[in-house]
Amino acid sequence: MPKALYPGSFDPITYGHLDIIERAEKIFDDLIVGIVENPRKETLFSPAERKELALAALEEEGIGVSKVITFDGLLVNCAKSHDRESIVRGLRANSDFEYEFQMALTNRDLAPNIESVFLMTSGEYSFLSSSIVKEVKELGGDVSTFVPRVVEKKLAEKFSVPD
Ligand code: PNS
Repeated sequence: MPKALYPGSFDPITYGHLDIIERAEKIFDDLIVGIVENPRKETLFSPAERKELALAALEEEGIGVSKVITFDGLLVNCAKSHDRESIVRGLRANSDFEYEFQMALTNRDLAPNIESVFLMTSGEYSFLSSSIVKEVKELGGDVSTFVPRVVEKKLAEKFSVPD
């Protein structure tokens, strides 16, 4: 089986991401989670914090991946330097499609030997995004069904709201 990279902002990691990781783990022998250091959007957590949270969430959920890394620059360069043949992305709804299609075609143009593979999200997470989780927590809502405990705690700290 090809080796894969699952890239993203993971700001913070959610049950939606963990669902994709768990399912990708069954398809690929070797999966690396790649956290982009400087996404085009502003992040709540630093790259080091996002990595720490991803590792803690994976541990809390008992999901093993080969590695969690942070990367800067082009995704395909990161994939090449880690000897990856596939890039895994999750698809939630129609609204994700255009962006993902554009990204996949660009990445294929840059690196024709690296294949993008898309996994459909589980229905229960189809509405879920890191942005929504942050908004709900900042406004004092309960996000326990969206993120592992360790992530919820860190969000409460960040926003200075009750845990
Ligand atoms: O979780 P996200 O924010 O949807 O992840 C987006 C990500 C990290 C996959 C994307 O922004 C990315 O690949 N960034 C690295 C820069 C790059 O390679 N850009 C060209 C790809 S079109």
